[in-house]
Amino acid sequence: MRPNKAELIEMLSLSGKDELEELYKRAYEVKKAQVGTKVYFRGIIELSNICTKNCYYCGIRRDNANNNRYIMQKSEVLEEAEWAWKQNYGSIVLQAGEREDRWFISLVADLLEEIKSLSNGELGVTLSLGEQSEETLKLWQSAGAHRYLIRIETSNAELYRQLHPADHSFARRLETIRTLKRLGWQTGTGVMTGLPGQRAEDLAEDILFFYDEDIDMLGMGPFIPHKDTPLGHLVDGFDQEKALEAGLKLIATCRIALKDINIASTTALQALNPTGREMGLLAGANIIMPNITDVKYRASYQLYEGKPCLDENASQCVHCLERRIESIGEEIGYKQWGDSPHYLGRK
Ligand code: 5AD
Ligand code: SF4
Ligand code: FES
Repeated sequence: MRPNKAELIEMLSLSGKDELEELYKRAYEVKKAQVGTKVYFRGIIELSNICTKNCYYCGIRRDNANNNRYIMQKSEVLEEAEWAWKQNYGSIVLQAGEREDRWFISLVADLLEEIKSLSNGELGVTLSLGEQSEETLKLWQSAGAHRYLIRIETSNAELYRQLHPADHSFARRLETIRTLKRLGWQTGTGVMTGLPGQRAEDLAEDILFFYDEDIDMLGMGPFIPHKDTPLGHLVDGFDQEKALEAGLKLIATCRIALKDINIASTTALQALNPTGREMGLLAGANIIMPNITDVKYRASYQLYEGKPCLDENASQCVHCLERRIESIGEEIGYKQWGDSPHYLGRK
């Protein structure tokens, strides 16, 4: 059933401590019934911070000169993928800034084929590489990727326009999401909360957007200002606690409204509170994306400030995350792709 907008706004506007606890509990019950309490890992490899775009909020935007640009060596990516496979991770995510040049497109296709072959086809691969043509998406699909993440950032086209330069097109972003769906990708999107100018009503519309586009997975998180961006003036006066609360409320409301999709407890939550990702799981999320990028690159991949684990390598993070997940009585779904029941039901 299509969620009721007034009810969404009501949930998104809750603020008392008890009311919020109540909301998170309700979301957790829906999670238990719809997707269970197994947490699926997607090891994330931050392949490159080179980006052709210039989003006003992002620390690796093209015009930020305070950033060492890198692209990982192929062998490094393959080593990390193999490590994830040997750790029994069900899948990995390849993420990078946006670019659509031929060299990059074929690099990704090669990586996909090699990752599939080194893991006997067992490791699932999700891509998070921004807007791409239908031809490219088909190429990467046939090379072995099966899930794609591309956040809409906000479903309000006017707000989108305010947060991006004039040549960034909301319509093309939406079109990429629809093309992915049509080609049969398991498709994830998401938004940021706490964007300047965003209201509870916008977030309610975002949730209706997820419903109407029949989305399989969500990755959402609070906007955290970065000093070297056009929104850097918002660093002063940024309220971490409120931002965390808004992020958790959105996760809980999405779980209650959309039920059987996968929802990630994102690293941005942990940037705001050391136990932010556990809180996300308790508010209805069921996916964690441990960072498995070599530490030498991590400091250069800061989309927002305060990103955790800049000095902790992949195995330190995974043991830490294991303990965190056990601490809330949940279990890790090793060796499984953990596709969303929503997607499996649609198939
Ligand atoms: N704060 C929080 N999230 C951000 N992203 C980019 N910049 C920021 C920021 N300052 C998110 C965007 C993008 C994803 C990869 O990271 O939603 O889609
Ligand atoms: Fe590039 Fe994505 Fe950052 Fe925009 S949000 S500047 S597309 S990495
Ligand atoms: Fe990275 Fe704890 S999650 S060290």
